[in-house]
Amino acid sequence: MGRINYAPAQAKVTDIQSLVKLVKNDDKIGVAGFTGAGYPKAFPTALAEEIKAAHERGEEFMVSIFTGASTAPDLDGVLAGVDGVKFRTPYNGDPTMRNKVNEGISLYADIHLSHLAQQVNQGWFGKIDWAVVEACQITAEGEIVPSTSVGNSRAYLENAEKIIIEVNEWQSEDLFGLHDVYYGMEALPPNRVPIPITAPGDIIGQRTLRVDWNKVAGVVVTNKPDRNSPFKDLDQDSITIGKYFVDFLLDEVKAGRMPKNLLPLQSGVGNVANAVLAGLLDSDLEHLSSYTEVIQDGLIALIDSGKMDVASATSFGLSPEYAQRLNENAASYRGKVVLRPQDVSNHPEVVRRIGVIACNGMIEADIYGNVNSTNVCGTKMQNGIGGSGDFTRNAFMSFFVSPSTAKNGDISAIVPMVSHHDHTEHDVSVIITEQGLADLRGLAPRQRAKVVIEKCAHPDYRPILEDYYARALKEAKGIHTPHILSEALSFHQRFLDSGSMKK
Ligand code: COA
Repeated sequence: MGRINYAPAQAKVTDIQSLVKLVKNDDKIGVAGFTGAGYPKAFPTALAEEIKAAHERGEEFMVSIFTGASTAPDLDGVLAGVDGVKFRTPYNGDPTMRNKVNEGISLYADIHLSHLAQQVNQGWFGKIDWAVVEACQITAEGEIVPSTSVGNSRAYLENAEKIIIEVNEWQSEDLFGLHDVYYGMEALPPNRVPIPITAPGDIIGQRTLRVDWNKVAGVVVTNKPDRNSPFKDLDQDSITIGKYFVDFLLDEVKAGRMPKNLLPLQSGVGNVANAVLAGLLDSDLEHLSSYTEVIQDGLIALIDSGKMDVASATSFGLSPEYAQRLNENAASYRGKVVLRPQDVSNHPEVVRRIGVIACNGMIEADIYGNVNSTNVCGTKMQNGIGGSGDFTRNAFMSFFVSPSTAKNGDISAIVPMVSHHDHTEHDVSVIITEQGLADLRGLAPRQRAKVVIEKCAHPDYRPILEDYYARALKEAKGIHTPHILSEALSFHQRFLDSGSMKK
């Protein structure tokens, strides 16, 4: 089989420059791509050049970008770099895009990843002008074999007025068979039916994405790798956090509260969450499974070692080394990896039914177990909530992991009150730092505060947290959740004023 096996698609092969000339100021563009995988490689750079040229002529030209999640420097980076993004949603990890959001040039809506497709279907953003998706192949029936992610492509293809397809020859054709595209999500309440997934490996849809060829403006052939950023080397803190996580789960098995092969694991994005998976590799656990959104190196290592039977997600998010491994052996992952649309991979109904163990990174937690995953010092966007809310609220058990300090010790990850709330105390079961593990299950706020401070805070910050809590107990009017409101954000203010949260 070739890459483009459908005659009408062959007839639409063209160059990207002629296609981007059709994009207009204020257009809304839904792109494929999730965690630097499976995003269009040619369109964004060509569009950024058009935008730059328009700006040099003194013309207004900005677009709205809807993605699966984070993309790459050659998508978010290039478009943000020319001040071309008016509005961006959902999760972003690109530093240039992040700066434009924090400088106020681009608006950013931080939407739960499982929600966006439905909101697009419902017209919450108005009409979507373009869907720009990457394929590793177009089948003889004219359907798209997605590449290394599915993301929101189904929703964008269904809703957009015009479509551009990039067929990327760099991606392995053997990715065919890894995707499960479910078309049962369009029904609205009260006509919605259960998503028929009862185990991570269940196949409930089709292998390909449908396309209305009347809407296709052009097909472009590319040959470019995904972003594939390397993960940071495993540091001692991450190894320690991973060990706490695995030991805790082993104790749950011993106590008879969890099966011997655990429950399906969800592991968040980022270095620490990836490192936690390495802890499982060194354990004796077998027949593990994963119901998550991104398959990072750690999950591939577990599959390759034979410890994990199957991983369900919406995307890969691999280092260059692991991306090469996938590219050379994609066919061998059939039956072991399932890539789904993100409104299925992250769906609360399925997460709750199958009893996911969720483990995500955080910016900070407060002494009562509320978690901030997104806004540094309450105002500066780091990445976004991603799928952490989809999984955390609905999981069987929800873990948050982080080193106890950031920025060379000048920031404490444990604070009196979080400066932004993403996950409330009601959703957080366990917090782990390299200092220890706080098991918050079944605890009331005053019990939680003691455990969080004692187990998770860094020794440099423990005394000032203890002091705050002791005074809050005396001074607060109601002491269900003791706080001194005028001081609750004093750690953050001190950091902003002096560069350190230390006194
Ligand atoms: N204050 C300021 N900056 C902080 C911080 C804090 N309390 N905690 C972490 N950071 C910074 C780190 O210094 C680092 O910055 P750098 O890139 O300039 O070095 C950056 O955030 C990443 O931190 P790191 O410790 O390397 O952890 P990570 O890669 O695991 O990322 C999050 C942590 C919170 C940023 C990341 O997990 C995230 O974006 N989470 C939200 C989305 C999510 O959970 N998705 C998963 C759903 S499946």
